[in-house]
Amino acid sequence: TKPRILIARKIFPEVVQRLSGHFDVQANDADVPWTPQELAAQLQDKDGALTTGSQRIDGELLAACPRLKVVANMAVGYNNFDVAAMTAAGVQGTNTPDVLTETTADFGFALLMATARRMAEAEHYLRAGLWQNWSYDMFAGSEVHGSTLGILGMGRIGQGIARRGAHGFGMQVIYHNRSRLSDELEAECQAQYVSKDELLARADHLVLVLPYSPESHHAMGEKELAQMKPTATLVNIARGGIVDDAALARALKDRRIAAAGLDVFEGEPAVHPALLQVPNVVLTPHIASATVATRLAMANLAADNLIAFFEAGRALTPVNAVTA
Ligand code: GLV
Ligand code: GLV
Repeated sequence: TKPRILIARKIFPEVVQRLSGHFDVQANDADVPWTPQELAAQLQDKDGALTTGSQRIDGELLAACPRLKVVANMAVGYNNFDVAAMTAAGVQGTNTPDVLTETTADFGFALLMATARRMAEAEHYLRAGLWQNWSYDMFAGSEVHGSTLGILGMGRIGQGIARRGAHGFGMQVIYHNRSRLSDELEAECQAQYVSKDELLARADHLVLVLPYSPESHHAMGEKELAQMKPTATLVNIARGGIVDDAALARALKDRRIAAAGLDVFEGEPAVHPALLQVPNVVLTPHIASATVATRLAMANLAADNLIAFFEAGRALTPVNAVTA
């Protein structure tokens, strides 16, 4: 009999179709975001699952789902997984690296530019019918080309943003990361390794691209925001919780930094109400990987992981070491 698979949210019909050729598939066609209890009930008799990053896979859920062998996350980040609990339960986790790198880097750069050049604020002004005249400083923002680009978290996406800044915009690129890049990669990205303190002090535009973990929780809090230039912009395309959103809203309101661009939020889809009150922030609903082609590639890679796990005994992009 075929393994039973749950697809936890609605995804491309062609990918559901493809999975149906291999598995006994139950799909969440109504696209309901299930509670943890509902998810556990749905998963109880399943051998595998395709998740989207908003379903928490922890010890409690695993204890209720003893058949579960593999969970394929349709996301590069997998902070919705309790990896230690999954490994202890012998459950394979997988993610979708690489297929979204360039698309996500494009978005990071788009958000940086929209933030620096105040595009969202300006658009709201125009739509509100407030545009009457020219003014010398109307929506005057900060320079992108030739400025100093700071990157916190230098994985594949961070490197993609560094390349865009260095090669496309003549930016001076500095970065901080837990480990330094090889000399070869540093040369390719034209990026210089600096301490976190130096990164915060020197960046004109600071982009966060590090994975969320207990260690990166509030990596940008009151103290770090105070280390930035008052003219600087901050862009978060990584994860909610890396920035202390309440502290950021205060810094933006008091103009202790110039502007921010945020694609991810603490407690999303809820957004800190103080962020909605300040004009100098560009807000997007966690869409950095959202192009049709990339979302399809992510869904297919998640599906390929399930197929490879059950049919070849080995996942393609595992996040933990478990034997099938
Ligand atoms: C999206 O946030 C992802 O991790 O792919
Ligand atoms: C993280 O894994 C990245 O791709 O940047």
